[in-house]
Amino acid sequence: MATRFALLFLSSLLIATSFRFSLAEADVTGSDDLLIRQVVDHGEENDVALGDNSLLNADHHFAVFKRKFGKVYGTQEEHDYRFTIFKANLHRARRHQKLDPSAVHGVTQFSDLTPREFRKHFLGVNRKLRLPSDAHKAPILPTNDLPTGFDWREHGAVTPVKNQGSCGSCWSFSTTGALEGANFLATGNLVSLSEQQLVDCDHECDPEEKGSCDSGCNGGLMNSALEYTLKAGGLMREEDYPYTGTDRGTCKLDKSKIAAKVSNFSVVTLDEEQIAANLVKNGPLAVAINAVYMQTYMKGVSCPYICSKRLDHGVLLVGYGDSGFAPIRMKEKPYWIIKNSWGPNWGEEGYYKICRGHNVCGVDSLVSTVAAVST
Ligand SMILES: *[C@@H]1O[C@H](CO)[C@@H](O)[C@H](O)[C@H]1NC(C)=O
Repeated sequence: MATRFALLFLSSLLIATSFRFSLAEADVTGSDDLLIRQVVDHGEENDVALGDNSLLNADHHFAVFKRKFGKVYGTQEEHDYRFTIFKANLHRARRHQKLDPSAVHGVTQFSDLTPREFRKHFLGVNRKLRLPSDAHKAPILPTNDLPTGFDWREHGAVTPVKNQGSCGSCWSFSTTGALEGANFLATGNLVSLSEQQLVDCDHECDPEEKGSCDSGCNGGLMNSALEYTLKAGGLMREEDYPYTGTDRGTCKLDKSKIAAKVSNFSVVTLDEEQIAANLVKNGPLAVAINAVYMQTYMKGVSCPYICSKRLDHGVLLVGYGDSGFAPIRMKEKPYWIIKNSWGPNWGEEGYYKICRGHNVCGVDSLVSTVAAVST
């Protein structure tokens, strides 16, 4: 049966439409302000990156930020404008810390960007896109023998963390990551693949959704990119078609240099056991997520009490684990290990951990698994 996932969401505002009550272990849906305040009040400050008085030290934090990330602003006006945004982001980081006590939130390379700029330049799941109507569903796999923890990085299926730069091309990195893993499983070789080929050449559209096409730095969808890759015959190596971070170039595909080919791909059902089983069997998975907490994320397991399931970022699911983080009452909470495309200086050496078990931030909603041709 044809699968169509509705990726249209009612609001683009930062109104969380889905609430996760971690303490009560129950999903509550609604949009009640009182509920938000209660959850915030219960949030404990553990290992907080920003102390209570840190907002008084905004000048100092901004100076450290500029030095650390080599930020230079053209004019005094621009500098002052960025400082205003920076201060607002300090407040946001503190709010995120309260809503997400098992992670550490604070100053990141994105702290001088408004949420809108951040979404436009560093995310890139095109929400107008839906899954192609011919998307196949992955077969249901047995789950009784799944390991309690698994990490494809330990098995050589994951290339080093890459950097999409200021371009909404996350979808291309999620796609190459999944095919790099599948190609490794099929051939035994780990080959870094070209995102720029997807950015320049892939304009795959949904036949039933006019104007919904993969479009370089303006977003795309992993399933469409896999469809393109299947039709185009495969992807070239990163070194043969290097990343430029712009979508102003023309397509430079050289079919004689194709290094990995898609044999087939499918969509995994919204079930965390099935996602884990497909991960272990087929390699890293292309997934979409809501990235609002990622702008301030520094380390730890992100498990926000409130997170929208509006998908706006494409990443790579490479593994999962079972424990190993504070606070005590969450100690046994399992998590997913996610490879991001914002360079190794973001998060945990470029990686993000998000708790597993409740489709937090929509991480289970749009999961693609790929198989590569073994030649
Ligand atoms: C590819 O197709 C085979 C045969 O139909 C199927 O068993 C397998 O699950 C598919 N793999 C993926 C990743 O969709």
